[in-house]
Amino acid sequence: MNYDTRGALIIKILTIIGSPRGKGNTYNVIKKVEEEIIKLDKNVEFEYLILKDSNLETCRGCLQCLEKGEQYCPIKDNHEQIETKMKEVDGVIFATPVYVYNVSWIMKNFIDRFAYISHRPRFHGKRAMVIATTGAVGLKFVLSILAFEVGTWGFTVDQRLGVICPPGKILDDAKQKLIENTQKNIIKASKVFYNSLIDNEPPKPGLIGLISFDLQKHAFSDAEKDSADYQYWKNKGWLEKGTEYYYSVKINAFKRVFSKIIVKIWYLKMTKAVN
Ligand SMILES: Cc1cc2nc3c(=O)[nH]c(=O)nc-3n(C[C@H](O)[C@H](O)[C@H](O)COP(=O)(O)O)c2cc1C
Repeated sequence: MNYDTRGALIIKILTIIGSPRGKGNTYNVIKKVEEEIIKLDKNVEFEYLILKDSNLETCRGCLQCLEKGEQYCPIKDNHEQIETKMKEVDGVIFATPVYVYNVSWIMKNFIDRFAYISHRPRFHGKRAMVIATTGAVGLKFVLSILAFEVGTWGFTVDQRLGVICPPGKILDDAKQKLIENTQKNIIKASKVFYNSLIDNEPPKPGLIGLISFDLQKHAFSDAEKDSADYQYWKNKGWLEKGTEYYYSVKINAFKRVFSKIIVKIWYLKMTKAVN
């Protein structure tokens, strides 16, 4: 939580924009989300990180961050500052245009540069919203993949907002309907995201989160003792027998059992494939 000089609570939101155009459709949608959230609470501050202008070089695939630790990344750029920024705020909006049914290359590079966080998550308790804009199609997949990726970093994704921004002219009636629907969706998504930011309860883990924890716990228990993953998980206490999740929270019993079964089956299949 952050406070202003008079002690009032300030909610900070970082928006990370993966459009190669910078201030294009995706930026404009976030601006509308900002307007709606400010209507709900004047003490919310937005910061814009436009990735194309942010001095984040492309991943070289050396694997140092995954195997030895992120401090061994040979690239010297703003990577560390960006991670610090994500830690300092209350919520993050990850936004990308749809590029050939996927996230833009800039957003993909951003995800790759922080790949080690999906092994060594550190954003539990932080809330996120994912936004995608498109000319016509691809929203569902892109929102799912982006939500999944940042979910593995520990973010709880409370809202997925997809907006169609058709190129050229479309029939007037259809255009009017689209504008109305878009506006409604933006208002609804902004409200849900804002409410998640003022919710002090630790987020309840979903099935994917539980499976992710159980799978990695299994995998990293067997990892080399000097590997970055083993050390990180051990220091967090996540490898201990009684540890059921990244943080202390009530877990749905059905999901708990289901996750264990999925992980068992997955490991049996893996063992069969390797031997
Ligand atoms: C290289 C490229 C690929 C695109 N691929 C798709 C696509 O697969 N489906 C689609 O409906 N729109 C596609 N679009 C349109 C963009 O998703 C759309 O214009 C988006 O709102 C652009 O956001 P921006 O202005 O923030 O960059 C593509 C645009 C570009 C430049």
